[in-house]
Amino acid sequence: MSKQVLVTGGSGYIGSHTCVELIQAGYEPVVVDNLSNSEIDAIRGIEKITGKPVDFNKVDCLDVPALEKIFSTHNFVAVIHFAALKAVGESVHIPLDYYRNNLGSLINLLTLMMKYDVPNIVFSSSCTVYGQADVLPVTEQTPRKPALAPYGATKQMCEDILRDSIAAYGKLKGIALRYFNPIGAHPSALIGELPRGVPNNLIPFVTQTAAGIRPMLSIFGDDYNTPDGTCIRDYIDVVDLAKAHVVAVDRMTGGRSKADYEIFNIGTGRGVSTLEIVKTFEKVNNLKLNYKIAGRRAGDIEAVWADTSYANKELGWKAERPLEETLKSAWKWQQSLG
Ligand code: NAD
Ligand code: UFG
Repeated sequence: MSKQVLVTGGSGYIGSHTCVELIQAGYEPVVVDNLSNSEIDAIRGIEKITGKPVDFNKVDCLDVPALEKIFSTHNFVAVIHFAALKAVGESVHIPLDYYRNNLGSLINLLTLMMKYDVPNIVFSSSCTVYGQADVLPVTEQTPRKPALAPYGATKQMCEDILRDSIAAYGKLKGIALRYFNPIGAHPSALIGELPRGVPNNLIPFVTQTAAGIRPMLSIFGDDYNTPDGTCIRDYIDVVDLAKAHVVAVDRMTGGRSKADYEIFNIGTGRGVSTLEIVKTFEKVNNLKLNYKIAGRRAGDIEAVWADTSYANKELGWKAERPLEETLKSAWKWQQSLG
């Protein structure tokens, strides 16, 4: 039986780590990426780690004829859909690009999946769909709050497009994985996160500050209603996150889904503050980070972390890598960039 899996956005941060895990689990990832936010080097990194060539296709998911050619020349058991624009701040300024790209890509994929009888899809969702939840930790049943930015709105709308399409068309199955905060890099340091320009996210800013690329890290606010006053997140190792995708594909192709459309929280179940991240990073990498307390960042959520018990039980998956190891891998990756 074919073990080909279409991986859109497969040269990106999470996609590249997932390709490694897919190959190591005996799948054959076929990557589609327009390289708008990644480099072909990531594909070379996957090949080096696994010792296997990767079927890479520079294709935009909005280009239906090009995407259709991929479907007509392969025999996929599943699609993992990572391809999306993902910068929250940018999405406020160019919302149409976000709606066009993120919604259009999913609609094109689902249409082609039905035409070519590809029944299974894993979709990259985000804990951003919960907003600032009233009760923590959040379960999959926690109500979604109205999105604060177009990026989050695209994730909510994509979840709904998926749910409605699965309900309407009968032969589709889908799993939405709501990622919490993915961080770190492959232990080989051959693949990792490649932020363009000034990083928005905490970990790339931390590693670039440690490397002297940025003079100082600003911690956005120490007056939140949390034990040390800084925000709390659920930071999940990117390799653990990648493994959840393999488990999701196995579940659908192995006929173990409980419903045609399922949602899982993919986090560690542990909330960690920004200050704890900084202190742990300093300790495990034996260095001092230049940082200051700055004002709050507009739109930041005070605290969110996952109740992962449903994912742990149903998927038989659990985040395993300790935060210390993850923060070491992030620094090793930064150093490999020279
Ligand atoms: P990334 O930018 O590294 O990867 C996305 C990839 O998709 C990139 O390689 C980009 O070139 C490609 N792409 C974008 N639009 C495309 C299109 N129209 N056609 C083909 N390729 C296209 O991002 P990532 O961090 O790996 O995120 C992957 C997915 O996970 C995204 O859907 C993102 O929204 C979601 N997600 C990410 C985070 C996070 O913190 N990194 C958190 C929650 C959810
Ligand atoms: N932070 C700082 N200084 C920085 C960067 C971040 O103090 O220079 C703080 C933020 O205020 C926040 C925490 O570190 O409290 C984490 O910030 P990130 O930007 O790394 O992550 P967010 O939780 O804000 O957002 C991320 C992704 C979004 C996604 C969301 C939920 O960037 O795309 O997780 O999945 F929607």
